[in-house]
Amino acid sequence: MNAVYLDAKMSDDARRRALYDGQLFLYSPTPASLELVRVARQMTEEAFAPLAPEAAQFSLPVEKYVEVLAALKPKFIHHPRCKELLPRILGELGCDLTKTYFDVPRLRTATSDNYLTSGIAYAFHPHRDTWYSAPMCQVNFWMPVYDIEPDNSMAFHLRYWARAVRNGSVDYNYAEWNRESRQNAAQHIKTDTRRQPRPEEQVELDPQVRLICPPGGIIVFSGAHLHSTVPNTSGRTRYSIDFRTVHLDDVAGDAGAPNVDSACTGTTMGDYLRGTDLAHLPAELIARYDTPPAAVGARSDGR
Ligand SMILES: [Fe+2]
Repeated sequence: MNAVYLDAKMSDDARRRALYDGQLFLYSPTPASLELVRVARQMTEEAFAPLAPEAAQFSLPVEKYVEVLAALKPKFIHHPRCKELLPRILGELGCDLTKTYFDVPRLRTATSDNYLTSGIAYAFHPHRDTWYSAPMCQVNFWMPVYDIEPDNSMAFHLRYWARAVRNGSVDYNYAEWNRESRQNAAQHIKTDTRRQPRPEEQVELDPQVRLICPPGGIIVFSGAHLHSTVPNTSGRTRYSIDFRTVHLDDVAGDAGAPNVDSACTGTTMGDYLRGTDLAHLPAELIARYDTPPAAVGARSDGR
């Protein structure tokens, strides 16, 4: 059973338990989320000026569009306002900032009509973040920057919350990926040859749920949910912001969603920053999750 809670008033501890049980949470825009959206819009509009960001793809050659995103996205990630606003959003949602650690927010684009679906605007196939070395206690936050509709949103594939999907996560190690692939995102314009964990069986995409909220509204879900980028047929580029958190008690206590099929190694644990002072998690906790790359024999391609 999966429920969707709207503006739930429950404590963060209770909410995380519910998230690890597959429940979804949806929040109305908060003052800080609206401010984050304002910052994202301002940067995006400046980057594409004089074109409107949602329509710019129709006036720009794809190489030029990639160039704009390649400058815009890192600028947003590292913008000092983001590191101020994320803790504020988490505080507004009832998180204990002394124990909640977040990673930098990402600005994502989903172009319409298959204009650009690789590299820097990668259209995510159905996946769990936990296939990408995220811990089972990772909580994801996702918000639209402009209005969304079902045809340019994201989808949850609920049938697989408790059911395994055969997948290639055994080949994924976060440290290896960072070394080899991430820097090259902007080079992948027409196709994306980077190795990513994918389903290795036919995924039944339905039943699926697409949550629609206003700009600055926040979808909160477990990183273990199977989710995907919806093929955008809306005629408008979708811009969204997402970021992730972990809670110290859950990291220390190995709490989190059940692992039904993730076999990746390594960990993203070193990325999260404490809500109060941007400190990293204790090194011994990071080390506990940082498993070495899978042995050659375990890999599907025998590397
Ligand atoms: Fe994801």
